[in-house]
Amino acid sequence: EAGLLLAPSSPSQPSVILTQDDLKKIAAYKAVEYVESGMVLGLGTGSTAKHAVARIGELLQQGKLKDIIGIPTSKMTHEQALSVGIPLSDLDSHPVVDLAIDGADEVDPYLNLVKGRGGSLLREKMVEGACKKFVVIVDESKLVNFIGGSGLAMPVEVIQFCWKYTASKLQKLFEDSGCVAKLRTFGEKEEPFVTDNGNYIIDLYFKESFGDLKAASDAILNLAGVVEHGMFLDMATTVIIAGELGLTVKNK
Ligand code: 5RP
Repeated sequence: EAGLLLAPSSPSQPSVILTQDDLKKIAAYKAVEYVESGMVLGLGTGSTAKHAVARIGELLQQGKLKDIIGIPTSKMTHEQALSVGIPLSDLDSHPVVDLAIDGADEVDPYLNLVKGRGGSLLREKMVEGACKKFVVIVDESKLVNFIGGSGLAMPVEVIQFCWKYTASKLQKLFEDSGCVAKLRTFGEKEEPFVTDNGNYIIDLYFKESFGDLKAASDAILNLAGVVEHGMFLDMATTVIIAGELGLTVKNK
């Protein structure tokens, strides 16, 4: 990961090199300041959210936080949270979540998000949709002018049955934006990536903006075979951005 050279805060102090991972950790630690004892917490997934989970575990161990219940958004986060001593539950037992903290792949100026490049978008959307406050943590590389404009994937979770058919329908929906739909694979053998829910991910790549996000969301969800997509519209209440020049906090 590229190192960032930060200007010294005073002439006598040396410059500090911060990596992208340092920035993710700084954003995550800031978000954990929103956590209070007794809260039900949505625990996000990914290389940024993992710093928040680790920090919550640390504060619990130190007795600085008490009576936290975590609702993990993936099997991976479930494992990590258990390993750092966070008591866990689920939405069936705790349908109202006080606060969720998670990363994102893209954040637009209105705090709409793309999530799911880590493959956990469905559980993330369920848990984060149930929370009173949703704090998103990113380094500044995740900021975009409009969603789908980064040239990177917009993930859609689909059932395995006839996934090629669903992928072709998705591509057709956005043909005016030069959309290409690709099955997400992993490893040298290019095996299909299977989500925690046993589904596939179709990644959509756009040459041009597809315009109205709500209309795009509705059209995708209207296709049989689609389970959920990675646009998180109007869900984030706060976004914490760690950048070269420090932290920025944006509230809805
Ligand atoms: C996983 C996600 C992640 O939050 C998103 O991909 C950001 O990940 P990272 O913090 O590793 O950049 O949506 O499904």
